[in-house]
Amino acid sequence: MKKIYIETYGCQMNVNDSEVILSIMEKAGYGRTESIEEADLILANTCSIRENAEQRVWGRIDVFRLQKRKRPGVVIGIVGCMAERLKDKLLDGRIVDLVAGPDSYRRLPAMVEAVSPDAPQIDVLLSRTETYDDIVPVRMDRNGVSAYISIMRGCNNCCSYCVVPYTRGVERSRDPYTIVREAEEVFASGYREVTLLGQNVDSYRWTAPADCGDRNAETVDFAALLKMVARISPELRIRFSTSYPSDISDDVLFAMRDNPNICRHIHFPVQSGSDAMLEKMRRKYTRAWYLERVARIREILPDCGLTTDVIAGFSGETEQDHLDTLSLFEQVRFDAAFMFQYSERPGTLASRKYPDDVPPEVKTRRLNEIIELQNRMGALNYREQIGRTHRVLVEGPSKKTDSELCGRAGNYMMCVWPDRVHKPGDYVDVTVVDATPATLICRLSD
Ligand code: 5AD
Ligand code: SF4
Repeated sequence: MKKIYIETYGCQMNVNDSEVILSIMEKAGYGRTESIEEADLILANTCSIRENAEQRVWGRIDVFRLQKRKRPGVVIGIVGCMAERLKDKLLDGRIVDLVAGPDSYRRLPAMVEAVSPDAPQIDVLLSRTETYDDIVPVRMDRNGVSAYISIMRGCNNCCSYCVVPYTRGVERSRDPYTIVREAEEVFASGYREVTLLGQNVDSYRWTAPADCGDRNAETVDFAALLKMVARISPELRIRFSTSYPSDISDDVLFAMRDNPNICRHIHFPVQSGSDAMLEKMRRKYTRAWYLERVARIREILPDCGLTTDVIAGFSGETEQDHLDTLSLFEQVRFDAAFMFQYSERPGTLASRKYPDDVPPEVKTRRLNEIIELQNRMGALNYREQIGRTHRVLVEGPSKKTDSELCGRAGNYMMCVWPDRVHKPGDYVDVTVVDATPATLICRLSD
């Protein structure tokens, strides 16, 4: 049996894509290996979101090529967003044998087959319809508790800094019945949590094709999808990512309120606290709108966890714009944040229209100020949890010791507690006794 080795970079969506790739390649007779030395096919599923994401992959390509020097029959492929962005540039000088974009994975077996020393293979066509909805991903996680399910592909937003619309194409929503079936199957095989993935889950919208009998012209939006998945079992927890501030609807918040198994956590990327920057970023909301949505979330879901993404040093960002971001972080008090310096991406609207003009040292300083503030705010939120109880899904032993288990509370905060009884996939009630800036120290509740 031939062996495939795959490395995954970037977002959760990419992790799920790698699972789709493994499924397609398994059907074509490939077994998975975790050792690059025994692989016949080496794939990197790549990310283009920031320049350093691509730099890491270039470093890995050098390592892959060493394998090829030792074993010339090995096939090296770059797939995913970097394949889509760089296209045949990746074939210059025969750096790799195969380049496949995010919508070409069904063709991988044929492409691998067709690779020969003078015939590298490339397919970077983007699709308007591909959702891989009939493919059952081969789960790559180790704990068997939590699974990703893609509910849509592509992105129709046009954030000026972002490469994703170019690498993943137009937005398309997957048939909800295949999503529910997939969630039922993972639940039946022991999983207790699914995370529904999309670049902008709030714009999920599926309409039944006209010839669909009694489902004729039925429309399912994200709130409706959440309810369909929530009905599978009260023992199945549902998470989702990513929400878009101008699109999240009250219906989604009500679906969360009415279904205790939909976890109370929203990843809610703000990107900037300054209206001038938000406009230039082509985000479709203002600071005031964002704060109103946060207030609404907290009104309907008082204990909801909130996390965010932010970019420091976008084109033209003034000190006042930066202070606006800091004040928004102080006001909202996120539990956690992914914080980045702006990285100009070739081909984006910003790269064409807006100079990357904030000096690197200023970007770094501003980013550090955001990080420092966020660390303080996050720590306050964690400390506030002391004395509260949470229902936690056990993931496995804690990082530090086997006598402790870890798992996330509904609000996404990581909990650890002494426990030699429960096992991954169990639900346990814990009480918070102490907190570090990113972990709740707990004990089993009485
Ligand atoms: N530079 C820096 N950060 C970016 N992100 C997206 N594009 C860029 C870029 N060009 C960040 C955004 C997004 C997260 C996934 O990555 O914050 O929400
Ligand atoms: Fe995911 Fe965006 Fe990176 Fe593509 S570029 S892998 S969509 S984070």
